[in-house]
Amino acid sequence: MFAEPHDPGAHDSVRPLRWRGDALDVLDQRLLPHETVWLRCADAESVSAAIRALAVRGAPAIGIAAAYGAVLAARGGNFIEAMARLRAARPTAVNLMWALDRMHACVASGADAAHLLAEARAIEAEDLAANHAMGRFGAALLEQDTGVLTHCNTGALATAGFGTALGVIRAGVAGGRIARVYAGETRPWLQGARLTIWELQQDGIAATLIADSAAAALMHSGAVQWVIVGADRIAANGDVANKIGTYALALTARHHGLRFMVVAPAATVDMATRSGDAIEIELRDAEEVLSCGGKRTAPAGAAAWNPVFDVTPAALIDVLVTERGVLYKPDGESMRRQFGAAHA
Ligand code: MRU
Repeated sequence: MFAEPHDPGAHDSVRPLRWRGDALDVLDQRLLPHETVWLRCADAESVSAAIRALAVRGAPAIGIAAAYGAVLAARGGNFIEAMARLRAARPTAVNLMWALDRMHACVASGADAAHLLAEARAIEAEDLAANHAMGRFGAALLEQDTGVLTHCNTGALATAGFGTALGVIRAGVAGGRIARVYAGETRPWLQGARLTIWELQQDGIAATLIADSAAAALMHSGAVQWVIVGADRIAANGDVANKIGTYALALTARHHGLRFMVVAPAATVDMATRSGDAIEIELRDAEEVLSCGGKRTAPAGAAAWNPVFDVTPAALIDVLVTERGVLYKPDGESMRRQFGAAHA
């Protein structure tokens, strides 16, 4: 744990992306924690491929990667097709479309290459600033000696840095409020086991890994008071799409009287989508479920269903934290007040 509070920039050493002037380097998250390999993406097509293959993942990080992909697309002269491929790389996280819309608007207003790059850099810098703000807002809600459970990876690896839910956890640990951090392993892709535990280790934050199926027993034990998660898309009624398993955690937290916090930048809010039922949920290859760590676990011929996100109804969410502040028990009315009506 941290020795002393509280420099929010400290203990935040990991970055998933590096702009190199002529290419985007992507820290290949498929290989962590065992290998630290940077993938060089010198054109928009390789950025799309890195997003599709989860070399870079996490809603804000894929938006930022796509923004730099748009810079490469503009230089490559195949802008329209490249932008369409970037947009189609993954369907659920709205940050991807949000970032590409910003880049598109820039081009439409006649921006030159330098301005386009400045826009991508701004998207990245704004995300980092939002994460620090959310860290402050979220950590202030926690009591002393709090235990928290998180899911997937919502940290520096999933953002421009610091993280959303993991940013609140960073700030809560730095401020001395969080005494216990638990992370679910997050089958099938193991973002919790491979990425969250690794990232926290890099920054000296002690955390305990649990099998996803241990969450109810952990909650029953009294060790955690809050479940803190990120989001891929938040609908106008406050429903939240996030990593598969989030919905089960919210139901289980409610049963045990624990509080459930969602932390995401305003860029994750999609006021044009009325409710969670209208959010497209990405289905990935069944092989991800039939295997573990690249080794086949199910018998030949087995079938598997692999939705990689689920929708937590707004009614199960106690607090929504964005960089604009804290919404208690988000619903259609409070969402409209905070984020305005959809323009779409
Ligand atoms: O499939 P992934 O790893 O991209 O899913 C990531 C999540 O579900 C995160 O919780 C979400 O993107 C928020 S990241 C700050």
